[in-house]
Amino acid sequence: MAGIDYSSLIPNNVSLHENRRLQRALEDWQPKFLEWWNDMGPLGFQAKETYLRTAVSVDAKGWAQFDYVRMPEYRWGIFLAEPEPGRQVNFGDHKGQPAWQEVPGEYRGTLRRLIVTQGDTEPASVEQQRHLGRTCPSLYDLRNIFQVNVEEGRHLWAMVYLLDAHFGRDGREESEALLQRRSGDADKPRILGAFNEKTPDWLSFFMFCFFTDRDGKYQLASLAESGFDPLSRTCRFMLTEEAHHMFVGEAGIMRIVQRACELMREHKTDDLRKHGGIDLPTIQRYLNFHCSVSLDLFGSEISTNAANFYTMGLKGRFEETKKTDDHLLKQATYPVAELDGERIVTRDEPALVSLNERLRDDYVADCARGVTRWNEVIRKHGIDFELTLPHRAFHRAIGSFAEVRVSPDGRIVSQAEWDARHRDWLPTEDDKEYIQSLMQPVVEPGKFASWIAPPARGVNGLAVDFEYVRLG
Ligand SMILES: [Fe+2]
Ligand SMILES: [Fe+2]
Repeated sequence: MAGIDYSSLIPNNVSLHENRRLQRALEDWQPKFLEWWNDMGPLGFQAKETYLRTAVSVDAKGWAQFDYVRMPEYRWGIFLAEPEPGRQVNFGDHKGQPAWQEVPGEYRGTLRRLIVTQGDTEPASVEQQRHLGRTCPSLYDLRNIFQVNVEEGRHLWAMVYLLDAHFGRDGREESEALLQRRSGDADKPRILGAFNEKTPDWLSFFMFCFFTDRDGKYQLASLAESGFDPLSRTCRFMLTEEAHHMFVGEAGIMRIVQRACELMREHKTDDLRKHGGIDLPTIQRYLNFHCSVSLDLFGSEISTNAANFYTMGLKGRFEETKKTDDHLLKQATYPVAELDGERIVTRDEPALVSLNERLRDDYVADCARGVTRWNEVIRKHGIDFELTLPHRAFHRAIGSFAEVRVSPDGRIVSQAEWDARHRDWLPTEDDKEYIQSLMQPVVEPGKFASWIAPPARGVNGLAVDFEYVRLG
């Protein structure tokens, strides 16, 4: 691969051409990435021209350039947000020191683990979604999922850049391992639970973007506060792309809700399965599932790991620098939901070990804003139904509530009640079969599947019926 002009092949603002060692590491990794992309990326569309956004620089003009591209030829770039002059470590034991440009030796292992855990989610979601192209509800949606997929690929590049640039041989080994694990694989699964779940249909995909990818947003936002400056700058740029993934999820569900409401009014019935729609209770059950598995991603309510990451200055709180406290948190407390016998109570716990729960609170508040906007659509149709977030203790596999059965409204229930009711609360085999039956591809420009409304507008100012993917 010698002689490749990396500054054009891999758009970057990290002066790749000046760093021979790093360039060689990436030269070695790139063909393996492409092999992984071809094996595990979107199935059946690699040769099709797709209207995609590519970042070629971080400024307002360069980060969103649109054109047709075949996905394997996508220019996965490496971008860090512009440096902040004089930036410091803003929290923890090193607060007030200059931000680190190199990995602090004593935190090397911890930092590497944080980066690998984040990095692992990026290819995992591409793997989870690889079959969905074949059942797309429209060309517009097909283009959007591919945009999300190539950007998750770019996020993998972003993390591999950090590993290769700052962690020597260990970093290169981790970079390879990121291409070797597989979502859902029994022997070499992805690191986090939700990234080993299947994304078998588009309702699940939109829920995944809304709930699971939003966990990613909150993890990135706390890593963007890191005292390790290259990680901070990398994550800050990733967040600009993440906003699009949040949009795909929220708008996707909103359009499904809108279509449900239209069908309910048109046919004067709640029973939409005769009419090719997705009824609101089914949407609620999918919401309950995806919300609960995503809440698990934040980890245990009480966590010494989270405390250590903070004290070490590696991972901050959401919007750390906007907070006005001491940024040390040694004396502070934080209210945490806990189990007390048969009741769920809130207790003040030391703030440092409660950081996972605090981030989960920020996340839940953000999710709730989206749900409010969905309910607005239902209300405007004059329909008496409200989507709700399940209680944080519902259907949890990690943390204080993993041992108990809890209803979506937050009551601890017996196993007998759970057995009798969980079909009302989580997607049933029936639901999954029905949703699967709806997954018929719609690929004529401007046409949409029966279960989803068209978007209000197209991509980058183009018409909704633009040929976003050239299938011909
Ligand atoms: Fe990502
Ligand atoms: Fe994402």
